[in-house]
Amino acid sequence: MSLEIGSIKKNEMLSLADESFCYGLSGLTSLIINNQEKFDKAQACCSTVPEILTVAIEAKDHYTHKHSVRVTSLAVALAECVGFQGQELEDLKMASLLHDVGKIGIPSEILLKRDKLTDEDRKVLRLHPTMSAEIIEYFQCVPDDIIKTVRHHHERIDGEGYPGKLKGADIPLASRILAIADSWDAMTADRPYRRALTKSEAGRELRDGKGIQFDEMLVDLFLVMISSSLSVH
Ligand SMILES: [Fe+2]
Repeated sequence: MSLEIGSIKKNEMLSLADESFCYGLSGLTSLIINNQEKFDKAQACCSTVPEILTVAIEAKDHYTHKHSVRVTSLAVALAECVGFQGQELEDLKMASLLHDVGKIGIPSEILLKRDKLTDEDRKVLRLHPTMSAEIIEYFQCVPDDIIKTVRHHHERIDGEGYPGKLKGADIPLASRILAIADSWDAMTADRPYRRALTKSEAGRELRDGKGIQFDEMLVDLFLVMISSSLSVH
C-alpha cells in the first residue's frame, strides 16, 4: 500500500498522522488475520469487501457505522432520481458504505472527542477520505470509480473542499451525490457535542450551500425527494 496520500507528501503526512495511519493499518491487519477465511473470499469476490470493512468501522466507531448505513440509503435514493441504475448504482452503494472507512485510522481521542476539535484535530480528520481510498484500493478487485468516489466525498463545488480541491463538474457525480447524503445525515443526527438540526434547519443549510458547497441541481432533487418529511419554506 502506498504511503503517498493525495497531495500530502509522505513526510508531511507522517508528521501529521503517522500514529493514526499506523493504527488504521494495524487494525485492518488484525482484522484480516482474524477473518482470514473472509479475506480469502474477498480476494475472489468483491462483494465481501464491504462486509469486512464495515466490521472494521463498527468496531472502531458505532456512530460512523450507523451513519454510513443511513448515508447509503439516502445516496442510493438520490442517485436513482438522477438516473443511476445497474452496476453504476451498485458502485455508488459500495462507495457510500465505505466512504468513511479511513476513520479507522483516526485516533479515537480525536474521532470520539466530545469537546470542540482543534485545528490540528481537524487536519488529522481531513486525512480520512484519502485513507478510505487507500484502504479500499488495497483490495485490488474494487473498481477505480468507487475509489475515486470515496476519495472525493468531501470536495466542494467552489473548490474549497478536500483532498483534491476539485471544482464543480470535476468532482465525480457520485461524490457530489454522496456529499449531500453525508451532510444531511451528519446534520440531522445527534452528536455528543451538539444537538441534531431539525429537518427544516438542515434543508435550509443545504439550500444555503447550493453552488458553494453542494451541486445546485442535486440539492433541489434531494429536497424534492424528501419533501414529504420536510417543511422548509
Ligand atoms: Fe467523510
